Amino acid sequence: MTPSAPNGRLAVFPGSFDPLTNGHVDIILRSAHLFERVIVAVLVNADKKPLFSADERVAIIRDVFREYANVEVDSFDGLLVEYAKQRRASAIVRGLRAVSDFEYEFQMALMNRHLEPTLETVFMMPAEQYTYLSSRLIKEVFQLGGEVRGLVPPAVERAMRDKHAAGVR
Ligand code: PNS
Repeated sequence: MTPSAPNGRLAVFPGSFDPLTNGHVDIILRSAHLFERVIVAVLVNADKKPLFSADERVAIIRDVFREYANVEVDSFDGLLVEYAKQRRASAIVRGLRAVSDFEYEFQMALMNRHLEPTLETVFMMPAEQYTYLSSRLIKEVFQLGGEVRGLVPPAVERAMRDKHAAGVR
């Protein structure tokens, strides 16, 4: 293998993760089982008004996966394929929860393949109990006073409470 060749067992799991949900955790654990190493890559500036800054999201996800030696957490800006190439990853992992995810994911996977044909997108299904979870719904439920325990890791729940206490909505 040449030094610039992709590492066949390195995957990137990209996303906004605002915030990380138990559905994301499920996919990260499955990826860590399948690949030698997984980089959870937090997109900077996806949303102009995120609940958590990219640095906060990275810190929270690092905390959640601190005991997993083959899970790395990083942030990226710009094109995902450029980041994956730079990290010499051979696969992009994406979670598929329902048929409704399919069209967007299909478009993204094929565009990424157009941009970088050597990079493969791998789809994984989370456990059934997480198929209805999304970061957007978690934020909405929390902001309206609903219970999010069991839907996000405890570190995320704590961080959301801190935001709430600080008056951030
Ligand atoms: O968790 P999300 O918000 O669904 O993740 C979307 C993400 C970050 C994977 C996607 O927006 C992305 O890859 N953005 C980086 C910019 C890019 O490469 N755009 C072209 C994608 S085809």
